[in-house]
Amino acid sequence: TPRKDNPLYALLEQAAAYYRQQLRQHPARQRAVSYLKGRGLSGQIAKLYDIGMAPPGWDNLMSHLSRDTTEQNALIEAGLVVENPDSGGRYDRFRDRIMFPIRDSRGRTIGFGGRVLGDEKPKYLNSPETSVFHKGQELYGLYEAKQQNRQLNEILVVEGYMDVIALAQHGVTNAVATLGTATSEEHLKRLFRLVQNVIFCFDGDRAGRQAAWRALNSALPVLEDGRHVRFLFLPDGQDPDTMVRQEGADAFRRRLEREAQPLTDYLFRHLAEESGADSLEGKAHMASLALPLIEQVPGGMLRRLLRQSLQQQTGIDLDTVEPAVMPAVGQPAAPQERPTHD
Ligand code: CTP
Ligand code: MN
Ligand code: MN
Ligand code: MN
Ligand code: MN
Repeated sequence: TPRKDNPLYALLEQAAAYYRQQLRQHPARQRAVSYLKGRGLSGQIAKLYDIGMAPPGWDNLMSHLSRDTTEQNALIEAGLVVENPDSGGRYDRFRDRIMFPIRDSRGRTIGFGGRVLGDEKPKYLNSPETSVFHKGQELYGLYEAKQQNRQLNEILVVEGYMDVIALAQHGVTNAVATLGTATSEEHLKRLFRLVQNVIFCFDGDRAGRQAAWRALNSALPVLEDGRHVRFLFLPDGQDPDTMVRQEGADAFRRRLEREAQPLTDYLFRHLAEESGADSLEGKAHMASLALPLIEQVPGGMLRRLLRQSLQQQTGIDLDTVEPAVMPAVGQPAAPQERPTHD
């Protein structure tokens, strides 16, 4: 665990200030400014999220923030400078990118995401795990959401930086993003300390649908009675950014109200599709998939309702199912780096 006075915090703050200043002053700033404007962002929202720019070149940040090897080593520890293991050469991790500072819920900068301005690969580059940045726990935009809402009742979980920021630009100020990792049980615990309502709204693509099912699995073990998890599936090819820009905030909010499905509906619908639940074989398959998931739910009332519903859907008297045939409850999987899909 990081010490309270971990010097990386100050260094990361200096880096954020540097990137922010480059977006205001660098001779090549216009390309970045046009890019952000082209994506519909105002100067005000760029400021709220402290968006910056890493200029082109191999050592801009390094030469600005370090005078000797010791100071360079600190930049490496902060994930800002990379050392080539073969040559020993050192260079800035983030070059010629739009920079998104990642803050912890207290507002301290703990890492960065960087996006290319064009079609180069990889599109997004994130800070590595460091002593202050733990991807499996942090939620991008949570600090800013807290800043913009005196009282949060509901949090929207989306995939990307630009999804969070575009939603905020349109006045939907309660979105956060997991950072290129799967939603973890740790993320869910953190969210449920703040709100009782969580809505996942991932991209309308295969990666987004896979992320939703993984999020469901992370949510089950923290589903106490009184907590609500819902899923909004977007039309193919859309993500929250393109969706809210296309239809506006009111339509987006209506969509959330009308179309977001409770976790339990999604669970049964998905398993029914998976198992072909209209035959006896399918019902048996569905029950064998559903039971170990249902048994993870800590909310006693919800767990009973889920068992009842499964019983109705399959016709199996679950009270007669021997415990031995029930598969063991799996440990939650470690957060995984998302597969790059574009
Ligand atoms: N992501 C990441 N690393 C990748 C790909 C994605 O960290 N190699 C994260 C980023 O936070 C990104 C989010 O996952 O914002 C969603 O990925 P994707 O849908 O591919 O991003 P796009 O919507 O295509 O990005 P943009 O809108 O900026 O073009
Ligand atoms: Mn996507
Ligand atoms: Mn997008
Ligand atoms: Mn996307
Ligand atoms: Mn993509």
